[in-house]
Amino acid sequence: MKNKSIGIIGLGTEVPKKTLSNYDLEKIVETSDEWIKSRSGISSRHIIGEDENVSDIAAAAGLKAVANAGLEPDDIDMIIMTTGSPELIWPSTACLAQAKMGMKNQPAFDLQAACSGFSYGLSMARQLMAADEYRHILLIGAEAMTRFLDWSDRSTCVLFGDAAAAAVIGPVDEGYGLLADYMGADGRGAGMLKIPVGGSGMSCSRAAPASAQKIVMNGREVFKFAVRIIPECVQTVIAKAGLKLDEIDFLIPHQANTRITEKAIEKLGLAKEKGVNNIENYGNTGAASIPLALAEAYASGRFKQGDIIVLVAFGAGLTWGANVIRWSLGS
Ligand code: ACO
Repeated sequence: MKNKSIGIIGLGTEVPKKTLSNYDLEKIVETSDEWIKSRSGISSRHIIGEDENVSDIAAAAGLKAVANAGLEPDDIDMIIMTTGSPELIWPSTACLAQAKMGMKNQPAFDLQAACSGFSYGLSMARQLMAADEYRHILLIGAEAMTRFLDWSDRSTCVLFGDAAAAAVIGPVDEGYGLLADYMGADGRGAGMLKIPVGGSGMSCSRAAPASAQKIVMNGREVFKFAVRIIPECVQTVIAKAGLKLDEIDFLIPHQANTRITEKAIEKLGLAKEKGVNNIENYGNTGAASIPLALAEAYASGRFKQGDIIVLVAFGAGLTWGANVIRWSLGS
């Protein structure tokens, strides 16, 4: 029988050069390094420059992932961009980045699942590739979240950052790669986390000033939702893969808050060291956060061949998703 194992065969990241520390934020809003660090785990974040856009960092990360996979841009059969901060309503950020990467003709589209986008994208890529129509899919998570921040709202502006991270999905040795995935959503929670202005419901020309186009969040409710949904997702996806919780080597949650990650890991009864956490230097980078943490841990040599890695995401929608990978890259 033909091998249908599909996995991550290349990774790449790009973060804007400009950084903003908690100490810098102390000069903008009434906050403190101590408050931000103890409540979220964040020390610093990258901020997109005035002269760049989300498609620029997306394209840079995408090309690095293609090179890391040992491929040429022409080898990519599809581009899936996942972003909660698209450059335009349309055309898609995927098409803008496609042109910047010197690619053409392959289908390219944006997938909107907020911070769960990378997890959704991996699931979709796996299912599309199982049908044998596409050999290499480039999945990019990219955000310019800080363009949607109200810099006078200390409850949100300290939490987010900008970044892009990409993965090439392609064939891997039999038994490795993406073993299982799980996706879900509950639109009844749409009001908990949103950017209310800028779409057709409340366009800037229709009713609202452009200054109202910013992230609005019920932090406490999102926190409770995340602590509940992460263990549920992990248990579900691990069972789908036919594995047990204690077979997990690494858990990579969406990087929204260290306290969320720690509570979820505790609920699952996993050893703390199995959690991958890089929020300290990046903040919450939305759809880029999971691939960024994955790429960083991979580059540091933390993974060995055969490791079971679970990705778990939650975000606006509300949405959630999880993926199980038997690691094969670079080993
Ligand atoms: N600096 C100092 N004080 C602050 C700040 C700040 N930056 N922000 C809020 N406070 C104050 C509040 O005003 C409040 O003061 P009060 O008690 O006088 O009213 C106090 O700190 C406590 O506020 P809480 O909201 O209870 O703080 P909490 O411990 O819940 O932490 C946080 C807030 C960090 C936002 C937390 O709720 C959280 O992480 N929630 C989840 C956020 C999340 O995951 N978001 C994104 C998910 S999906 C996506 O990524 C798109």
